[in-house]
Amino acid sequence: MTYVVTDNCIACKYTDCVDVCPVDCFYEGENMLVIHPDECIDCGVCEPECPADAIRPDTEPDMEKWVTFNQKFAELWPVILSSKEPMDNAEKLDGTSDKLRTHFSEKPAEEAA
Ligand code: SF4
Ligand code: F3S
Repeated sequence: MTYVVTDNCIACKYTDCVDVCPVDCFYEGENMLVIHPDECIDCGVCEPECPADAIRPDTEPDMEKWVTFNQKFAELWPVILSSKEPMDNAEKLDGTSDKLRTHFSEKPAEEAA
């Protein structure tokens, strides 16, 4: 099994999850993180750290599409090793429905200077 990041991370990107992951398997897009399913060791410590409640085990119903999604973008985006400021509108957009359609960016995060 693996844990995955789901849609409420989009446009929030709080990044609290990154600091607790023992294997550094979070990858960063412009406005979302994903978990690499092949690297996650299923420890579960990131799940309660997410203020947006966006991290789920793939044992929950209907998670197949999120495993595929996390795998795809983990292979395209750079790894993120430490937390950073959330996105500007994180609190306002926390809980917005249908974020995958309305807010998701496929772009990778900009590399730190
Ligand atoms: Fe990292 Fe553990 Fe979360 Fe997997 S479950 S992403 S290994 S903190
Ligand atoms: Fe996203 Fe939650 Fe981590 S909002 S960046 S999964 S702490």
